[in-house]
Amino acid sequence: MQRLAPSLREDNVSLDLISLIKTILAATKEISFRVSQAHLGGLLGSTLDENIQGEVQKKLDVVANELIKDILLESGFVKAISSEEEDHSVAGDENGKYLVSFDPLDGSSNIDINSLIGTIFSIHEAIPGVDAADSAQFKQAGHKQVCAGYVLYGPSTMLVMTTGKGTHFYVLDRTHGGFLLVERNVQVPQDTKEFAVNMSNQRFWQAPMQNYINDLLAGDTGPRGKNFNMRWIAAMVGDIHRVLQRGGIFTYPADSKNSEQPYKLRLMYEANPMSYLIEQAGGVAMTSQGRIMEIEPTDIHQRVEVIMGSKNEVEKCLSYYK
Ligand code: AHG
Ligand code: MN
Ligand code: MN
Repeated sequence: MQRLAPSLREDNVSLDLISLIKTILAATKEISFRVSQAHLGGLLGSTLDENIQGEVQKKLDVVANELIKDILLESGFVKAISSEEEDHSVAGDENGKYLVSFDPLDGSSNIDINSLIGTIFSIHEAIPGVDAADSAQFKQAGHKQVCAGYVLYGPSTMLVMTTGKGTHFYVLDRTHGGFLLVERNVQVPQDTKEFAVNMSNQRFWQAPMQNYINDLLAGDTGPRGKNFNMRWIAAMVGDIHRVLQRGGIFTYPADSKNSEQPYKLRLMYEANPMSYLIEQAGGVAMTSQGRIMEIEPTDIHQRVEVIMGSKNEVEKCLSYYK
């Protein structure tokens, strides 16, 4: 099995970007260890703080954030970082070539029940001439990402990553401490019989999504003429990982629970990197209005609607909005 760096050189990834990726992965290996020891080390449960989005921070959210932030800011590769757990972007090295956005731990509600969680990251090139402290440099659309990935802390610690040459799977081999390539050019099946959505929000969705999901639930006696299965891990990393392997549609649609905020998932830390991985695997990643990776961000913490996965199923879902 091929090691990480040679596999990236085969995709013509620059040495600078490979170094940055290895830096991020060094932090995730430490997070993987901390996650496995969390109960024993007193790292379960919440802090007394909320992040800028009004969500209670778990102790492990904070630990993971500090580990990634520190290693990136010390690396010299990074001009600035932005994180779900930081109020503002944080300046790094003025000469750093890259910007990194990350969700230190996705699926926080799974931490205390020893279930699936992961780290999501997205890399853009820094804009020359813009001050490292200026968060405006993060307002780049998702199609400008040069790398995106996630590390899943599951039964195996897995890296799923793209640098624009397909989406590849790696597994952390603890015998030598490196990630090994296990599957190159993963392909999302175009058709599916599986969907992933938080059904408890159904009554708050817009009519097109209600109608679409009702037709899936109607099964082989309904308009779709086939039975669908539902899966929901409550961690986007876990749900998207299943979609990448087996196909499916994952959605977090607009809802009316909170009139000021119709969306749940974050553009920079969740939607964009997952869109890049899904599209590089032949899937489709949209809002009900258009392609996620074409959205020009207006705020680093902005949230969006997400409908992604198997090509034909996502297109079917979007047809209900027309
Ligand atoms: P985070 O743990 O980083 O706040 O993200 C959790 C997200 C996402 O992973 C998941 O799909 C969704 O929130 C689940 O939220 P609900 O349980 O509220 O539906
Ligand atoms: Mn998240
Ligand atoms: Mn998170």
